[in-house]
Amino acid sequence: MIILAFESSCDETSVSVIEDNKVLSNVIFSQIDIHKLYGGVVPEIASRSHQQVITRCLDEALTTASTKPEDIDLVCVTSGPGLIGSLIVGTVAAGSFALANKKPLLEVNHLDGHIYAAAIDNELKFPAIILLISGGHTELIFAENHYNFKIIGSTMDDAIGECYDKVARVLGLGYPGGPKIDKLACEGNPVKYHFPQPMIGTDDYNFSFSGLKSAVINKHHQLQQKNEAFLVEDFCSSFQKTVLDTILTKTQKALVYYRTNNLIIGGGVAANKGLRDRLSTQFKDYNVIIPKFEYCTDNAAMIAMAGKYKYDQLSDKDKQLLKNNYFIKPFSNKEE
Ligand code: KG4
Ligand code: ZN
Repeated sequence: MIILAFESSCDETSVSVIEDNKVLSNVIFSQIDIHKLYGGVVPEIASRSHQQVITRCLDEALTTASTKPEDIDLVCVTSGPGLIGSLIVGTVAAGSFALANKKPLLEVNHLDGHIYAAAIDNELKFPAIILLISGGHTELIFAENHYNFKIIGSTMDDAIGECYDKVARVLGLGYPGGPKIDKLACEGNPVKYHFPQPMIGTDDYNFSFSGLKSAVINKHHQLQQKNEAFLVEDFCSSFQKTVLDTILTKTQKALVYYRTNNLIIGGGVAANKGLRDRLSTQFKDYNVIIPKFEYCTDNAAMIAMAGKYKYDQLSDKDKQLLKNNYFIKPFSNKEE
């Protein structure tokens, strides 16, 4: 089965073609250079930029995959959560392609995309615990099987990626902050500063990052006010250690309680090198499936893969309903 997928939920425009489990193309136009001037994503600029490049991304994805529109069996598109204006661009582009070429159109949840990024070049085993860590979400999920997911814990306030980005902004590292903090953290002393470990001891699988963010920012102000010299590497390293200790403690607890050895990681923060190093030592006895770097942050190949597994679960009647329906209603939040 050949799947064409579109992703435009935030600041990456991406179009991908996959055949069965193989990625034939995964074109990504990142808007980071545009938004970094403003220190974060500007929604209106994001949607305009998606509009400018999406058809070029489509052409390139088809050409790179040596695929013609008539070869496509299924079109998938991210319907949410995300920035509403950005999602409209992707859903309209996907719907137009499906209508013009008379192809079935399937909507995919962006978070399912992050989970199924791990299925690219890997076989997912169930039951599993899924740790979903992105710019907008921090969730622990118990997965009985494909598309049989139960959220067992989530953040009470800021998402983990958001916390990275805000701390990086205060440290003057620019946007997006996650990769920059990660790089500096690898060169610093992780026990130089002690920051609070939010909700680490609570009897649940929830997280909180807002207090940690404030503690890190306050410490930075204090050091500056006292004119005390400090190494930004030590600061980043201590912050990253605190974050990783927190999420990995709860992840381990969930693996034990749900009696499974299978751990799936997804989301932009899964690109974190410190996290990957910790997983290869602390979780070496587990079957850890983590996406390759290029599939961690937003991309359409993960949407295609999530669409493939979602389509497989549909009844024949539901598959029929995907035909002749070229309108997908995007949504900005999970709750809508
Ligand atoms: O999954 P994603 O591309 O977008 C959302 O769906 O939210 O995640 C983007 C987030 C940003 O907050 C970015 O700073 C973070 O992922 N990120 C990282 C790293 N690479 C990206 N955070 C920590 N370490 C990294 N290496
Ligand atoms: Zn994402």
